[in-house]
Amino acid sequence: MSFNIAIDGPAGAGKSTIARQLAQRLGFIYVDTGAMYRAMACHLLREKIDPGDREKIEEACRHADITISYENGSQQVLLNGENVTERLREETVGNMASLVSSYPVVREKLTQLQKKLARSADVVMDGRDIGTAVLPHAQVKIYLTASTAVRAGRRYEELKAKGIEKDLKDIEKDIEERDYRDMNREISPLCQAEDAVLLDTSDMDIKTVLESAVRICREKSKAL
Ligand code: DC
Repeated sequence: MSFNIAIDGPAGAGKSTIARQLAQRLGFIYVDTGAMYRAMACHLLREKIDPGDREKIEEACRHADITISYENGSQQVLLNGENVTERLREETVGNMASLVSSYPVVREKLTQLQKKLARSADVVMDGRDIGTAVLPHAQVKIYLTASTAVRAGRRYEELKAKGIEKDLKDIEKDIEERDYRDMNREISPLCQAEDAVLLDTSDMDIKTVLESAVRICREKSKAL
């Protein structure tokens, strides 16, 4: 049986950084499920589909073949055979992903793919509903969070490093809106699973968070 580690939490909590490094440390595969929702968003943006148009989204979703491959250990997302990984981090793609992730048809399709990956390998999988809906029997569940101000500050620095100037207040507003949508949608909203360990990273650096995550995993399984 494969070993599954589920990491959930709001945007900007550091999930992907920690999940990637944790996977590396344990020799597991890292699965970024947000990238799958982003690939679906990419498809809908290309097709110029309105995020409120349920019928068109259901139809387009059927024609979106999303698959995952790995290049030197790094996850690549293929949309209808094309590698779209580089496009996925754009702000418009992230916002569209948050909007369309509330549709059952989108969630069902991507959840199937995620479950299949977790059955076939030891994974660290991050997202919003991994511990609650995708892998309810994961051996380890971590809920990673940080205050809105800290998450906005991290995003600000990330954009600045890429040469993009954006007002901190606008970033904070975007984060609040995204949190609200992700936490209040009808299906699989973001919430901490009952058996997840809470890690608030507001006052922690990456190294400390990683060591805490490794310790949580080792407490659950001596084999790790
Ligand atoms: O983690 P991220 O920012 O790449 O995710 C983009 C959006 O995708 C997020 O706002 C909500 C959605 N998402 C989801 O609904 N369920 C997941 N397991 C992962 C992401």
